[in-house]
Amino acid sequence: MKRIVVYGATSEIAHQLTRLLAHNEECFFVLIGRNKDRLDTVCKDLKSRGAQSAEFILCDFLNKESLKQTFIEALLVLKEIDTLILAQGSLTDQLKANTDIDYALDEFFLNFESMAIPALLYAEYFEKRQKGQIIGISSVAGERGRKTIYIYGSAKSAFTSLMSGLRGRLAPHNIHVMTVKPGLIETPMTSHLPKSPLFISATSAANIIYKGMINRKDSIYVPFYWRFIMRIIKDLPEFIFKKLSI
Ligand SMILES: NC(=O)c1ccc[n+]([C@@H]2O[C@H](COP(=O)([O-])OP(=O)(O)OC[C@H]3O[C@@H](n4cnc5c(N)ncnc54)[C@H](OP(=O)(O)O)[C@@H]3O)[C@@H](O)[C@H]2O)c1
Repeated sequence: MKRIVVYGATSEIAHQLTRLLAHNEECFFVLIGRNKDRLDTVCKDLKSRGAQSAEFILCDFLNKESLKQTFIEALLVLKEIDTLILAQGSLTDQLKANTDIDYALDEFFLNFESMAIPALLYAEYFEKRQKGQIIGISSVAGERGRKTIYIYGSAKSAFTSLMSGLRGRLAPHNIHVMTVKPGLIETPMTSHLPKSPLFISATSAANIIYKGMINRKDSIYVPFYWRFIMRIIKDLPEFIFKKLSI
């Protein structure tokens, strides 16, 4: 039996992942997000695919107190929690962020703080219980600050660092902490980008993440070849890197 809390549960990647979990394991879900209708649709879909239960909690992901409250509410619903999945995110419009500081900071909050607050709260809970699992979706964009995407990238970079620290802290307590670094996945978030052979479907991404969960991986690229692409990008000398339009 698995009691799972999912933040950003309406995300296409999270939805495909929770479908796999519902199909393969005895799961009780609490889904957290901002859109009642979309959350309700995902709950119904998961129940039709084998979930034991699926309920949702509304949250303002730009509000610290609202985020903290969801932990209390999720615990009230599930009584105990085994797995936390963090999947919300927004691909920041970098040009807008260059001139609109409030927008830039909100985007940073969504892509970092809204993930970090639950990660820290559930980490403490899992540490006390001496068991648990945290799956956090970061991004290859967090590997090196690029001029076209550095607000989103710096938030993801901070989140990758946070997950790495939590993994070290929680490893002695047998708690699995996995960082997921997708490359290009076909979801509403990337629907405006020109398609390239590097894109994979959200279903394929979910399969890779699910295998990583089963095999208790520390950190995974989705798919694996992004490890090599990012190695090249990270190794480029700064005097070349700063001239690139990537
Ligand atoms: N797709 C990719 O190529 C890619 C690559 C690297 C990393 N990722 C990461 O993968 C995760 C899942 O994204 P996805 O690709 O599945 O995208 P998606 O389907 O567009 O999902 C985005 C999720 O974030 C939520 N969200 C966005 N802005 C929000 C806001 N201001 N307040 C509250 N919730 C908000 C959305 O909620 P609503 O349903 O209410 O809009 C939705 O649940 C994200 O963390 C993303 O950064 C994706």
